[in-house]
Amino acid sequence: MSDLHDITFSDAQLAWKAKAKEIAIEHLLPNALKHDREESFNEVAFAAACDAGMLGVWIPKEYGGSDDGILALALMVEEFSKADPAFGVAFAVNALGSIPIIVGGTDEQKAKYLPSVAKGEASCAFALSEKFAGSDAGGLSVMGTKNDDGWVLQGEKKWTTNGSRANIITCFAVTDPESRSRRISAFIVESTDPGFSIKKLENKMGIRAVPVAETIFDNVQLSDDRLLGGKPGLGFKHSMMTLDLARPGVAAQAVGTAAGALELAVTYAGRRKQFGQPIAGFQMIQAMLADMAQQTEAARWLTYACAAKADAGAKNVTKIAAMAKCFATDVAVKVATDAVQVFGGYGFMEDYPIAKYYRDAKILQLYEGTNQIQRIVIARNLIKEASQHDHYNSVIPNEYQDSFGAPEVTANV
Ligand code: CAA
Repeated sequence: MSDLHDITFSDAQLAWKAKAKEIAIEHLLPNALKHDREESFNEVAFAAACDAGMLGVWIPKEYGGSDDGILALALMVEEFSKADPAFGVAFAVNALGSIPIIVGGTDEQKAKYLPSVAKGEASCAFALSEKFAGSDAGGLSVMGTKNDDGWVLQGEKKWTTNGSRANIITCFAVTDPESRSRRISAFIVESTDPGFSIKKLENKMGIRAVPVAETIFDNVQLSDDRLLGGKPGLGFKHSMMTLDLARPGVAAQAVGTAAGALELAVTYAGRRKQFGQPIAGFQMIQAMLADMAQQTEAARWLTYACAAKADAGAKNVTKIAAMAKCFATDVAVKVATDAVQVFGGYGFMEDYPIAKYYRDAKILQLYEGTNQIQRIVIARNLIKEASQHDHYNSVIPNEYQDSFGAPEVTANV
C-alpha cells in the first residue's frame, strides 16, 4: 500500500462533525469550567452523544455501529475537545476500551459487547497501565491464573481513565510469566464482576471532569469466554494494535485543544486593549497567533492523514499513529502555553477559561504512550523501513558504509 492516502470526508463523517460541534456549543463550552471545578462528568453532553449514535461510529455495522471509521471519530473528538478537552478524552476512551474487542475478540465476544457500546448503553475503559508498568507495557504484574472455572484476575491497575464509569473494562494480565512474547492476555471484565472495585479516584492537574481511577481486581473469577480472542498470549499484540488505532483519537484531542486555545487567544487579543489599541494589532501578538495557527493546522492534517490511513485498512499504521500523537500533542501544549501568554496575567487566573486548556493539554503528552515512547516507535519503524530497501544505501560511498548502514542498525528502547 502506498504511503500516500486520499483524505476524503464522506457525507456521514461531515454530519458527525457537525453534530459534535452542535453538542459542543450547546453543552460543553458553557459548562466546561463548572465540570472542571466540581470534577464532575458532563452527563448531559454524553447522553446527547449517545442519543445521536456517536458511540457507534468506529464499530462495524454488523455489531450495531455505523462503521464510519477512525476519521469520523477524530472529527468528533476534535470538536468536543475544542470546547472541553476533558470531554474529548471521556468520549474517546470508549474507543480505546472497545477497540481491543474489535481487533482481537471472537465473533461471540463482538456480538455480546459491541452493540451495547454502539448504543451508548455501556461505557468502556482500557486497563493496561500499572504502578510499576507504564511505558514498559510488557512489564505488567496483574496475574491471570487458569482454574477449572476459567481465569482469575488478581492485582491493581493505575490511571484507568473512565474507570469508575465504565461497564466494560479490557484488562491486560500476565498469564504466562515464563514466556517473553506470549506473556500477556487480555480479558473482558464487567464492572459488576465480584472482586472488581475502584480503589481511588485521582486528583489531577487537568482533565478533571473525567474520572481516572486506580482499579482493583481482587480474585475476579472470569469464565473462559472472557479471554479476549479465546486464546492466551495475544494480549500484548492486542494492546499495541489497539493503541495504533486509538492514538489518532489522542491526536484529535490535541488538535481540538489547540484549536480551542487558539480561538480564545484570537478572541481575547481582539478585545484586550493596551497602549490605546487591541493587542491583536501588535505584530508580536500577530506572530504568536500566526505560529499557533500554522502548528494547529499541520497537526490537524497529520491527524486526518493518519486516521484516513487506518480507515483504508493499511497494515502498518504504527509509525504514522505515533507521529500524529506525538506531533499534535506537542503542538497542543505549545499552543495552549502561548495562548496563556496572550492572555497575560488574566491567563494565569482560573476565572478565565484559558488556564484550563493549559492544564488539560499536558496529559496529552503523557497518556496512551509518552511522547518519548512515540519517538522510539517512530525511530524503530524508520530504521526497519530503511533496512527493507537499499536505494539510498547504494549512493553512499563504500568507505563510509561502516559508520552508516541502516540494515545493520538495531533500535533498542
Ligand atoms: N502492532 C502489533 N504488534 C506489535 C506492535 C504493534 N504496533 N508493536 C509491537 N508489537 C509486537 C512486536 O512485533 C513483538 O512481537 P514478537 O514478540 O512476536 O516479536 C511484541 O509486540 C513486543 O514488541 P516490542 O519488543 O517492540 O516491545 P517492547 O517491550 O520493546 O515495547 C513499546 C514496545 C512500544 C515501548 C510499548 O511497550 C509501548 O507502546 N509502551 C507504551 C504503552 C502505552 O502507550 N501505555 C498507555 C496506556 S493507555 C493510557 O494511557 C491510559 C488511558 O486510559 C488513556
